[in-house]
Amino acid sequence: MTESFTPKNIIVTGGCGFIGSDFVHYVVNNHPDVHVTVLDALTYAGNLENIKPLLGDQVEFVHGNICDAQLLDELVPGHDAIVHYAAESHNDNSIADPEPFLKTNVEGTFRLIEAARKYDVRFHHVSTDEVYGDLALDDPAKFTEETPYRPSSPYSSTKASSDLLVRAWFRTYGLRMTISNCSNNYGPYQHVEKFIPRQITNIIEGIRPKLYGDGLNVRDWIHTEDHSSAVWTILTQGRLGETYLIGANGERNNLTVLKDILRVMGQPEDAFDWVKDRPGHDRRYAIDSTKLQTELGWRPTHTNFESGLRQTVQWYVDNPQWWEPAKAATEAKYKAQGQ
Ligand code: NAD
Ligand code: DAU
Repeated sequence: MTESFTPKNIIVTGGCGFIGSDFVHYVVNNHPDVHVTVLDALTYAGNLENIKPLLGDQVEFVHGNICDAQLLDELVPGHDAIVHYAAESHNDNSIADPEPFLKTNVEGTFRLIEAARKYDVRFHHVSTDEVYGDLALDDPAKFTEETPYRPSSPYSSTKASSDLLVRAWFRTYGLRMTISNCSNNYGPYQHVEKFIPRQITNIIEGIRPKLYGDGLNVRDWIHTEDHSSAVWTILTQGRLGETYLIGANGERNNLTVLKDILRVMGQPEDAFDWVKDRPGHDRRYAIDSTKLQTELGWRPTHTNFESGLRQTVQWYVDNPQWWEPAKAATEAKYKAQGQ
């Protein structure tokens, strides 16, 4: 049986990042009666431009860190839900320097659930399918809500840790919480460190795209707008204490995605470089979202990957002012790592 929750005044942590800002747009476009307070530290991955046009009566921005307990004591009372996106989110960065991942993903989540418990605020935790580790290429199985946790990277182990904290706060303290674990997102406003935007902006700048390892690793792609509608559905209809997996049947290997990008951008399909593999590189992710679809009736709308990819390519072509400031430093970092 589903439960119904009608939020009026929510905090969105990480609402200036790729997926969090899409969720803020989703709320503004679909629920004009819901007030949103965005709490974001504006790290290298946060960009106020993502939500600037929305700031006003419905959307307020607070520049701050989720690890700041005093700030949370001032901010959280009076809100009825926290939707928690803020995180260090990039695997390669976590391999080079894990410490900020421990701080934000583990301590930050701990501070938020303590505040949610203290002020009796509902909590939705946005997490990743990477907590389940990886699947073999020839395994017919997909991840379900019952798959055991087996994270591989510093990033995914800190996300797994944060999930476990949220689950323990439900069982021990009765925190009103839900968790979602989603697969790889794509779409506009994604940082140029990530696979798809890195390759698109490389091609625009005349740099050859870079493919890790043998290129056969599989990711299960979902458009970020579908992730946002799923999170809203879980927040408002999900059962307390439950985990829901979010995915849209988008399994593709990296080589195929890169060839799609090259074709869409009018390049020869071999115009890329093979580079050193990521240490511990997960082989395959695949989501079974039956629970979310049957229990809560959610459906993805971006079911044609090629058309979503074309739209994404066009956005990066049209918005160089958004990504150019981060591009040179990102590529310098990759070059130093041999990638
Ligand atoms: P992102 O890196 O684009 O954005 C992260 C945001 O969090 C930024 O705005 C940053 O400024 C903010 N932030 C970081 N540390 C903070 C702190 N200590 N205090 C306050 N704000 C802080 O990340 P994303 O790709 O949008 O991912 C958002 C969430 O979704 C993460 O929790 C991630 O684990 C999860 N997720 C991502 C994907 C994906 O494909 N990108 C898939 C599944 C789940
Ligand atoms: O599955 C959900 C996860 O998806 C999220 O939790 C993470 O926050 C998000 O970053 C993403 O993790 P990945 O590590 O899968 O994404 P990334 O974009 O870094 O890489 C996607 C695949 O592409 C992966 O197999 C590594 C490969 N890759 C990546 C880069 C940057 C390349 O081959 N070349 C590259 O230049």
